[in-house]
This record gives sequence, structure tokens and C-alpha cells, in this order.
Amino acid sequence: MKIVLAYSGGLDTTVAIKWLSEKYGAEVVTVTVDVGQEENFSDVERRAYSAGAAKHYTIDAKEEFSTFFVGQAIKMNGMYEGTYPLSTALARPLIAEKVVEVAKKEGATHVAHGSTSKGNDQVRFDLAIKSKMPTGEIIAPARFWGMTRQQEILYAKEKGIPIKEENKKFSIDENLWGRSIEGDSIADPYAEVPEDAFEWTKFRKQEPLELVLEFQEGLPIKVNGMKLSLLEIVKLLNAEVGARGFGRVDHIENRLVGFKSREVYEVPAALLIYMAHQDLEKTVYTPLELRFKREVDQLWSDLVYRGLWYEPLRYILDEVGRTMNRYVEGEVKLRVKDGAAAVLGRKAKYSPYSESVASYEKGWYPSDEMARGFIEIWGMHSLLASRTRA
Ligand code: ARG
Repeated sequence: MKIVLAYSGGLDTTVAIKWLSEKYGAEVVTVTVDVGQEENFSDVERRAYSAGAAKHYTIDAKEEFSTFFVGQAIKMNGMYEGTYPLSTALARPLIAEKVVEVAKKEGATHVAHGSTSKGNDQVRFDLAIKSKMPTGEIIAPARFWGMTRQQEILYAKEKGIPIKEENKKFSIDENLWGRSIEGDSIADPYAEVPEDAFEWTKFRKQEPLELVLEFQEGLPIKVNGMKLSLLEIVKLLNAEVGARGFGRVDHIENRLVGFKSREVYEVPAALLIYMAHQDLEKTVYTPLELRFKREVDQLWSDLVYRGLWYEPLRYILDEVGRTMNRYVEGEVKLRVKDGAAAVLGRKAKYSPYSESVASYEKGWYPSDEMARGFIEIWGMHSLLASRTRA
């Protein structure tokens, strides 16, 4: 029996290598997908082998992740419950796809992942695997091995499996689009998150960051006049914006599995890019387009969060997002300083904004007669209705 395991290098999946090979007498092939997490991939590989992997793959999917997943998320302002930029949710289908590719290549019948039965990730992994490999059997050992985190640490010790220091305190999931922090030490929603939970948003730079982000078809293409790939832009912003202490999220999240949990994220690039992108959309769209787009954004975000990446409606909404971003072009000026970010100005070629129409000094004014007529007819529904009520 051959099992292909989605391997992050963290505690759960490291323990899973040994556990799966002992329980099933299986050959375990590990796959680590690089979606931009800060990781030493040769250490991860070494850890996989010392935990008993028969073969290990490291797959660089950063370009694909930024182009097809992060890029689309930017067009859709992908945020769950208005707060969480979907970093983990977006990466799961891609990781699953890569793992399935290896499973097919290796002729494996079983695919495994380290998600527990409490989280959203199991849903995303299972559905993505089923979609790409309908005949594949899924094993999620953490759903039934019955070990707590502490017991996993003990198991690792007993079997002589090396684990990372960081794994002892928080459960981290990281990629290009964000860093998620979970763990018992932040489970009390009233207790402030300890500073050592954070990595990307530690306050390191005092001087303000002045930025001009240039967008084309809804995506940032230049930073302060410098043409960069989306991947480079996201990396640069994570570093520079994070160093000003901006990009923290702490909220109570409604999980897919029916309970609320306290979720903490570091998402500096995501929050800043969304801020600029939404501002530009507002500058370009008609009021009806804006209203419709925000609904589409929310629906798309819900699908992604809920593991429905392969839902046909997602592709339709993607198409709507692409079409509606065709004219989202222009520049947004921003400042990041002391943990806060603000839009300072924007300009957009396709914007209906007209300074001469809007101006109070020299601007266009409807005549008194026009204004009266407009207001009377505009308010007629409400006035007539209100007269019929006591
Ligand atoms: N709550 C977030 C989500 O569902 C983050 C999950 C982080 N996953 C993890 N295995 N640590 O997308």
C-alpha cells in the first residue's frame, strides 16, 4: 500500500508519517507544497525522511498560487465575514491538486492529510481530493487517532521524531497571502494575544511608508513606479507593511464546522492591497455596479471559505469578477505608519468622477427648478406611503 501525504513539516503531519506507516504497513510518500511559507524546505525534507518517509517531493507552487489564487482573490476582495483574507482557504485546493498529481504519478491509491475533524481545512482537502481523484481513498489520521497535541509531542519523542520548536506553542499555517495563528494560549477571546504569537507584523520601522500602487485590470502591477510580478509585490508589501506593525487580525470566526473560534492572522499585504483595490473599484464603478460587486465578492468569499472551490458557481463568479475588473485601472496613494494604513489619494482613467461637476466653487449646479422637480419625484413613493400611516 502506498499513501501520499500532504506534508507541511509541522507537528501533526510529521507524526502522521510514522503513524501511517506503522498502522497500515504502508509506504508513505510526502509532498510539501511551497505556497510562499517561510520555510527551510531542506529541513522539511530531512524531517520527512527521519520520520520514515519512503520518498519526498517539494513542489514550488508560488507562481501558480499568486497568479491563479491570490490574483483572483484580489479581484474579488476575498474576505470571509469581512475580516479574514482567506489565506489558508485559498491555498488548500492548490495543495490538494499537487498532492493528487503525485499520487497519480506514484500510482498510489490513498491520499492523506493532517487536518482534524474540528477545522475547515479537512473539508477543503477532502473536497479538492475527491474532485481531482474521485477513486482516491482519503485518510485523515488526526480525525481518528485520538491523540491530543500534548500526546502527539510525546509520541514524537518516543519514536525519536524531530519536531520544530515553534510547534510547541502555536499552530501556524502560513503562505504568501497570510499567516494564521491558532492554539490554546489564544483560546480565551478576552485575553490579549501574546506578542510572541506574531512574526510578520512586529513593529520594526518607524519611518512612514509612502506607496503608490498602480493597478491594471484589477491587479497591482507597479509599486512606486517599479514594475513587479504579483508574487514580488505581495512579498515586498508583507515585509515593508508588516514592519510598520500593520496587518493584524483578531476576530471571532464562524467556522464551517458549527462553532465559533478565535482566529488570529497576520495579513499585511492582503489588507493593504484590498484597501487600495476596493478604493479603486469605488472610483470606477457606477453605484449599481458597486453594490452588485460587493455581493458577488461576499458570495465568492463564502464559497472559498467553505471549501467549495470546485462549485460551478465559483467559476461563474470568477468570470464576473474578471469582467468587472477590466476597467479597474489606476493609481492609489497610500501611507503606512505606526500600525495604521490609509489611502491618501487615487486616480483612475475610467472613473466617472468629474472634478468640475463635483466642485463647490466653479462646478455645475442644477437650477432651482430642476432640483425641486427631481426631489419631488424622487421622494414621491415615501411621501405618499407615509401619509397613509398614522
Ligand atoms: N480559520 C482559518 C481558515 O479556516 C485558518 C485555518 C488555519 N489552519 C490550520 N491548519 N492551522 O481558513
